[in-house]
Amino acid sequence: SAPEPSDPSDPSDPCKGCREVINKVIERYSQTWRKQENNYQQFSSQLSSQCHGLDRAIITQANTPVGSKIVYDGDKKKTLKVTPELFSTFAKEHPFPNKTWDTCAVVGNGGILTNSSCGDIIDSAQFVIRCNLPPLGKGYEKHVGTKTDIVTANPSIFLEKYGALMGRRRPFVESLHSYGKSRLLLPAFSYGHNTPVCMRAVYSIEDFESPIQPIFFNPEYLQSLALFWRSRGLRAVRLSTGIIMASIALEHCANVHLYGFWPFGNHPHGLHALTNHYYDDRQTKTKFHSMPAEFDLLLQLHSQGVLKLHLGDCQ
Ligand code: CDP
Repeated sequence: SAPEPSDPSDPSDPCKGCREVINKVIERYSQTWRKQENNYQQFSSQLSSQCHGLDRAIITQANTPVGSKIVYDGDKKKTLKVTPELFSTFAKEHPFPNKTWDTCAVVGNGGILTNSSCGDIIDSAQFVIRCNLPPLGKGYEKHVGTKTDIVTANPSIFLEKYGALMGRRRPFVESLHSYGKSRLLLPAFSYGHNTPVCMRAVYSIEDFESPIQPIFFNPEYLQSLALFWRSRGLRAVRLSTGIIMASIALEHCANVHLYGFWPFGNHPHGLHALTNHYYDDRQTKTKFHSMPAEFDLLLQLHSQGVLKLHLGDCQ
C-alpha cells in the first residue's frame, strides 16, 4: 500500500517530505512486471546500432591495433598512441563477443541492498556484473551475493585506498581475491591521469599472478553511449558506472535484472533512512552524475518491460 504523505515540518519524520517523490516512483513501478519482447528487441538493437557494444565496449587487440590513436572520452583533446607495450595489455579478442547470456544481474551499490536478502537471486544469474570493487564478505553475502563475472574499478579507489599503488601493492592484490577469476574493467582511457594508475593496477595483478583479468573500457564506446543517453534526455557530465554496465548488459543478455539502483535517501517500502551505498555512506558526486535522472530512464525501461529493476526485498 502507498505510504501516507509525509509532513516536512515533523522533526521525528525520517522521511522529511520524501513521500511524494517516492510515491510517484512506486506508482510507476509495476509489481506485475513482465518482459515485453518487442520493446526489448527494439531497445537493444538501437543500442547496438548506435554504440556497437558487442565488439567495441572493451579495448581489444582487434579493435585497437599498434600505432592507432586512443582518444580519451573525458578529455577529447588528449590522445595516446598505442605502443607494442600498451598493446600487450589489451585483451586478444572481445571477452564477450556474442549475445551469450540468458540472464544478467547488474548490481549497483545502493543502500537499498542493505538487509535485502537478494544474494541468492543475484548469484543465480548466469552473469553477474558489479561496480567499483564493492565488499562481498563481512556478512554482505546474504544481501548482495558473491558471484562476480565483471567488476569495475574507478581509479579514485586506487588513489584513496591503495596509495595510488605507488608503494606496496600486496594489499590491493589481496583485496581482489573475493572476485576470483572475474574481469576487472578499468576506465584507463577516460582521463589522462587514469592511465598510469590503471597500468600500475594491471602490472600488480600480473606480477602477483592474481587470477583476475584486467580489461579496459573503450573510450570510443563510452563516448557513443553518452551521446545515446543524451539523445534520450540525459544531461549529465558523466554517465554513472551503473548505467554504463546496464547498457552493456542490454546488448549482451536476453534478461537484464538490476539490483541496488535507488538514488534516494529512504527505502521505497518502509521509508526508513538509507545510506548511499550498502557498505558506506559516501555521497555521489552530483557535479558529474545525475543518478535520479538516470533512474528515471531506467524506470521507463522497467515499465516498458525492457529490463527489470528490483526494488525492495527478495525473500
Ligand atoms: O561510480 P559511481 O560513483 O557512479 O558508482 P557507485 O556509487 O559505486 O555505485 C555504482 C552504481 O550504482 C552507480 O553508478 C549507480 O548507477 C548505482 N547507485 C544507485 O542507483 N543508487 C545509489 N544510492 C548508489 C549507487
